[in-house]
Amino acid sequence: MNDYDSELVRSLLKREGFAFTEDRERADVILLNTCAIRENAHNRVYSHLADLKLLKKQRSLVVGILGCMAQNLKEELTWQQPLVDVLAGPDSYRQLPMLITDAIRSQEEGLDRKGLAVDLSEYETYADVVPDRSDGVNAWIAVMRGCDNFCSFCVVPYTRGRERSRDPEGIVREAQQIADQGFKQITLLGQNVNSYRHGSWDFARLLAAVANVPGIERVRFTSPHPKDFPPSLLEVVAWHPRVCKHIHLPMQSGSDRILSLMNRSYTNREYRALVDRIRTLRPDIALTTDIIAGFCSESDAEFAETYKLTEEIRFHNAFVFKYSERKHTIAARKFPDDILESVKGERVTRLVDLQRRISHEHNRLFIGDTVTVLVEGSSKRSDSQFTGKTDGHITVVWDKSLLPCRPGDLVGVPVRDASPSTLFAHTRPEGREILS
Ligand code: 5AD
Ligand code: SF4
Repeated sequence: MNDYDSELVRSLLKREGFAFTEDRERADVILLNTCAIRENAHNRVYSHLADLKLLKKQRSLVVGILGCMAQNLKEELTWQQPLVDVLAGPDSYRQLPMLITDAIRSQEEGLDRKGLAVDLSEYETYADVVPDRSDGVNAWIAVMRGCDNFCSFCVVPYTRGRERSRDPEGIVREAQQIADQGFKQITLLGQNVNSYRHGSWDFARLLAAVANVPGIERVRFTSPHPKDFPPSLLEVVAWHPRVCKHIHLPMQSGSDRILSLMNRSYTNREYRALVDRIRTLRPDIALTTDIIAGFCSESDAEFAETYKLTEEIRFHNAFVFKYSERKHTIAARKFPDDILESVKGERVTRLVDLQRRISHEHNRLFIGDTVTVLVEGSSKRSDSQFTGKTDGHITVVWDKSLLPCRPGDLVGVPVRDASPSTLFAHTRPEGREILS
């Protein structure tokens, strides 16, 4: 969502005549688009700010903080960080050109005026702003913004405000333009994407309509909430040939008491039942999840329930997070953050180890098969290799000499080796060791 918001901001600024550079030495204005979801995202921003302090001592420079941290920490950032000139929350990006121009003028006049725009809106969806997308294979479209779920650990309802959905005709039109520009994949975005609703349109209908746009090969969506999976949505995922057979289904915990404290609105049994429904409909839909370890008052026995459910469901992949208390949330106000850091760390390690073993077992089943991959480009590790994703969102890597292709192509790649995170078209020395 932050990448997408950066594309919106680039578009809003470019249409007011601002130009962009990747070279910070040449920049008159530096904007940090921030996330507030966990403490480590905060820490990264503070370390960037320390860097920028030095730069700002040497020359005139406008520094702006955008996004969720700006929204959540407005007092702290304006008064404790004199370095920051502009703050704009996720619903205030339209004001950025004015705020930046004013900050530049204020510096020229030797003043220190702060530009602050952090009001949340019930309506802002930026529906009329075409994001400034860089060329590529995947294009994001935010179909809804905000969240009304108020999971007790989560800062999003406070930083991104109430749920609101974009009009479906505009979304489908944008999907058509994206296809015309040559993108092959669309990822529909929303904090709570499957609660999308606009008039008589629900998310199932929207997903099918976007997937029907000619020229788009694959459609993905993230992140859904388990409570919003009516049969119609499962049917579209299972049977539409261009909707990827992958569902990210954040589980968070396997303990009913913790799920209730988290305000997740489902039980262990209900979550399992949804997984069973999905797998009965189509066993090859890849399931991935998010899990939080060490939430307030989580006992060893309750963690064991999460471990057991993870082991039983056998997700393709899981993102495991240490609980991180966020200002303003229900949990921060009501429950002490009482699990020792060392215990949180141990629980995360145990879950990560478990999931790596399971992911590796899943991935090894592909050895000997040929998988269909949407080519993304050169692999991060080596310019002589390509990388891409399977329908189920597994990364695949192969030598360019093996299979000449271009980003955006759909190609069949033979799988010879597998790690917990990647399928390879060649055997690796360490891969053989694991297999023997
Ligand atoms: N601490 C740890 N993890 C969190 N997440 C959201 N808020 C927190 C928090 N306070 C995780 C959830 C969510 C994912 C995007 O981030 O697992 O699904
Ligand atoms: Fe946060 Fe997602 Fe819960 Fe909304 S549904 S409060 S974004 S974790």
